[in-house]
Amino acid sequence: MKIVSLVRLFFAAAFAVLVATQIAVADSPRERLLLDFNWKFYLGNDWGMAFNLSKAASGSGPASRMFNDAGWRTVNLPHDWAVELPFDKNSDMNHGYKPVGPGFAANDVGWYRRTFDLPKEDAGKRLWLEFDGVYRDSTVFVNGWLVGHHEGGYNGFRYDITDVANVGGKNTVAVRVDASQFEGWFYEGAGIYRHTWLVKTAPVAIAPDGVFVQSAFKNNKIPKGPVEIIVEADLLNKSTNFINEVTARFELISPEGKSLGKFKDSSLIHGREQFKLYGAAKFGSYELWSPESPKLYKLVTTVESGGKIVDRQETGFGIRTMAFDATNGFLLNGRHYPIQGTCNHQDMAGVGTALPDALQYFRIAKLKEMGCNAYRTSHNPPTPELLEACDRLGMLVLDENRIVGSDAENLQKLEEQIRRDRNHPSVFAWSLGNEEWGSQATASGAASIRTMQNLAHSLDPTRECTAALNGSFGSKTGFITVLDVKGFNYNLGSIDGYRKNHPDAKFIGTETASTVTTRGVYTNDLAKGYLAAYDYITKTKSGALVNPVTWGETSEQWWSFYDARPWMSGGFAWTGFDYRGESTPYAWPCINSHFGIMDMCGFPKDNFYYYQSWWTTNTVLHLLPHWNWPGKEGQEIRVDALSNCRQVELFLNGASLGKQVMKPNSKLSWQVKYAPGTLSAKGFDAAGNVIAGSKVETTGGAASVQLTPNRATINADDEDVSVFTVSVTDAQGRIVPTAGNEIHFELNGPGKIIGVGNGDPGCHEPDTFVSSTNRWSRSLFNGLAEIIVQSTKDAGEIKLTASADSLTPAIVSVQSQSATPRPFVP
Ligand code: GAL
Repeated sequence: MKIVSLVRLFFAAAFAVLVATQIAVADSPRERLLLDFNWKFYLGNDWGMAFNLSKAASGSGPASRMFNDAGWRTVNLPHDWAVELPFDKNSDMNHGYKPVGPGFAANDVGWYRRTFDLPKEDAGKRLWLEFDGVYRDSTVFVNGWLVGHHEGGYNGFRYDITDVANVGGKNTVAVRVDASQFEGWFYEGAGIYRHTWLVKTAPVAIAPDGVFVQSAFKNNKIPKGPVEIIVEADLLNKSTNFINEVTARFELISPEGKSLGKFKDSSLIHGREQFKLYGAAKFGSYELWSPESPKLYKLVTTVESGGKIVDRQETGFGIRTMAFDATNGFLLNGRHYPIQGTCNHQDMAGVGTALPDALQYFRIAKLKEMGCNAYRTSHNPPTPELLEACDRLGMLVLDENRIVGSDAENLQKLEEQIRRDRNHPSVFAWSLGNEEWGSQATASGAASIRTMQNLAHSLDPTRECTAALNGSFGSKTGFITVLDVKGFNYNLGSIDGYRKNHPDAKFIGTETASTVTTRGVYTNDLAKGYLAAYDYITKTKSGALVNPVTWGETSEQWWSFYDARPWMSGGFAWTGFDYRGESTPYAWPCINSHFGIMDMCGFPKDNFYYYQSWWTTNTVLHLLPHWNWPGKEGQEIRVDALSNCRQVELFLNGASLGKQVMKPNSKLSWQVKYAPGTLSAKGFDAAGNVIAGSKVETTGGAASVQLTPNRATINADDEDVSVFTVSVTDAQGRIVPTAGNEIHFELNGPGKIIGVGNGDPGCHEPDTFVSSTNRWSRSLFNGLAEIIVQSTKDAGEIKLTASADSLTPAIVSVQSQSATPRPFVP
């Protein structure tokens, strides 16, 4: 921090008034309106001259304000058009066989248009359009004016449209999205796949992402003694008036909503366009943020100018310490805190990359259920709502950028990412890159990473940086010589040797496992591209033991290794959820990855229970496989118990098959001669008491369809969702684990279906409405499918019917309760 800042901080702190007083603040002029609803969309590059850059304000075709888009489809954002396209064998495997990107010109360009009114009261305000993320390059026109072009699919961007807006009348936004280039090697979607906003402010206002709140302790590794809350606020002055003084008043609000105190700072700005105000305050009593107890504080910044309130903004933050230590690994709030992490891409069944916010919460909650405490946003900056879900539910985040480089554009992107994300208590470190095999060993690579790391430090003195390296660990010139924290991807065999030579180094396992399993499958099936869910090392014909993914490790291998080395800080398994693309080790007809501990829908694979056993304090006892093996009577079947019980005893139809002792971080196996009936297990504690039981039964054939919503009540705000699990049960109500019935859906009431999925990595059925049959359908995959239902703005009962040939249908309702939608552009 510069000296001038410290001096200002001192004065601001000296004036801090730490008494709980009531604030009486009139509404500020700031409005942040969701601009997600009722866009018009057209897929096609039919207007080659749309830009018409020869003259200003002369966008033609859809870019013109006169264009008639009445024939275009209406869509709500977030929207991903790639997920709507059929699978195509000739398109890119890594991107999920969707015909978009290089070679698929017909599907590469999409146009979005939206018309809205601006009231005349907006005269004199600054008006901004904000996009949280568009895949990939976009060109935006407002009222025929070109207002900006943005490249890159993972950073947000914003345009000041004040000069070209029609205040008191109609305005047209047209966005041309070009998804012809890939940016990663995984499914990336296409379109305006994150939220869009219209922001209105006074001419003097807090700058975008302008508030930074830090909590500091005397020793920043240990939260002992008073905490100092340090605030920096960047302000913009777009006023044409000569303004003398601007004041920022800061108020801290406790997790319980109580005002904890206020402080302020003022400045004479004399026509400056940008300026900073500061504040600081000390507290003796506070609640710490952690994944187990995610206590969130709020800073309310109120800006006054000319005796009036001109802006007011709330910023969430948390109080905690984070540090890496060469002996004890990662420390959260002063204690060794092993990262029990998963890497994840951003797409999900049904919706592609266009996740309503409720699905971010759904996914983070699932990860927490298995004991995951950290999320790596591989390999790009996440959507802001993912970080909000992590802050609120309690999940650490390793926040990763997309492209490595110290050129102006990349540094600007890194800066935007850090400014946007640095208040989130969940973010514990920055990851500057992943497996940069072209540069991670070179001097120019090290120089670029150093520039990036220095920038990160200057914008955020509270966090350290890493990058995910997959080699060049011994390099004397590369990334590893520069990084604060050495990130290891796989390569367990290189870790101890590196540490021996660098005893002071700090580490993290940025990527591990790459285990490949298919939910509900227990023998490899090359034709379909399925891999047995046992997560074991397989035998080749020659008898050699191999992992299907040669660079990866089983869950047991990597976690046992890391758990024995606290200095490694823990690590991130590749991946929490399956994702589209990278159908390793297979290709077509396999269309999505198998790396997930859960499938694309979030249904647990068996491995989920391995992690739950060793990452939670719950008593866990899970048996695999299912017990429906007609035709295999008398043949040996491998049975595994995933458990943290000290001993497990297995029974078939009541007869004991033996008790085995569980070693920490391991699992147990039996070979069992198949006979239909009940396979059961008892789990024992160290004293020999039975503490858990589990069973799998041979079921009858499918008799009825079942629907189970994850939430029985949702908000009627046109955004909220309930995720239904679809299954079929036999006459005794037991889920049939091998069922593949095709299920048809019908919805009545104020809701809409936004996607379906089943987690089958080889399924080519659409995740969207089936236009050939004019209805929503999906087959079960090993007994399960998923359907995502979204509210409208009308409250009422949303009734979903799921039916299948010759089965009793399921009819289940969720209540959409009246709710005030967040402010939006009508
Ligand atoms: C890693 C890479 C990931 C993914 C994974 C598959 O090398 O960082 O993005 O490709 O392999 O195992």
